[in-house]
Amino acid sequence: MDFERILQMTTSERNLALLQDEAFVDDVTEFLAIRQLYNAAIKQVRTKLEILNDGFQVEHCHNPIHHIECRLKSPGSMLEKLRRKGYPIEMQSLREGILDIAGVRVVCNYLNDVNLVADLLLSQDDIRLLKKKDFISNPKPNGYRSLHLIVSVPIFLAGTTEHIPVEIQIRTIAMDYWASLEHRLKYKTENDVSDSLKCRLKHDADLLSAIDADLQDIFCQMNA
Ligand code: GTP
Ligand code: MG
Repeated sequence: MDFERILQMTTSERNLALLQDEAFVDDVTEFLAIRQLYNAAIKQVRTKLEILNDGFQVEHCHNPIHHIECRLKSPGSMLEKLRRKGYPIEMQSLREGILDIAGVRVVCNYLNDVNLVADLLLSQDDIRLLKKKDFISNPKPNGYRSLHLIVSVPIFLAGTTEHIPVEIQIRTIAMDYWASLEHRLKYKTENDVSDSLKCRLKHDADLLSAIDADLQDIFCQMNA
């Protein structure tokens, strides 16, 4: 299969190819079916998180989750990542090697909510933890903080069950605020960022982390 060709196409080009090139139909259909599986996995995880959040509100009068964002990796980004990692441009290496095709970002209200949400989700029988990176206990040298989980969720189809990986990033509003701006700054700049600006960005991440700790303390005292 010319998988590279499929990944490079826009949606309208794919539709056109389906009309013009019959040999291509099966390959494109397989790719779309697989994308659909990742979309289903995103929905599954999102619903689980929303149910946990609602349940916590009823039992403890507190919403741990501020909001949830979801994204399915675009075909262009899949191709870029396969190339960057030096993997063959094939469906199999996409499915086995790229674990962030389905992405869910959970933005929490308070610091303690991050681990609370992670623990509640991971305690569910059908969720399997594949990888965990705790950039909150161990922030990246640039100041980035977030809890990253790669989990697999079962998707039940007619006759089969597929276990689909989902990357879940869980962080506070303050961590999300910093990461969003830092991400945009990084992509806007063509030149290397100077050491002094890197240092200021790291300093701001640390300030926000101190604010997170203080707000958590205020919350605990007001709810004691
Ligand atoms: P990718 O190839 O980028 O997916 O990285 P990885 O597979 O090594 O995973 P890692 O857990 O380090 O990062 C995954 C994702 O976390 C990235 O795609 C970003 O969304 C986010 N991330 C990681 N590091 C940073 C950072 O320094 N700044 C910002 N803004 N986001 C980051
Ligand atoms: Mg990624």
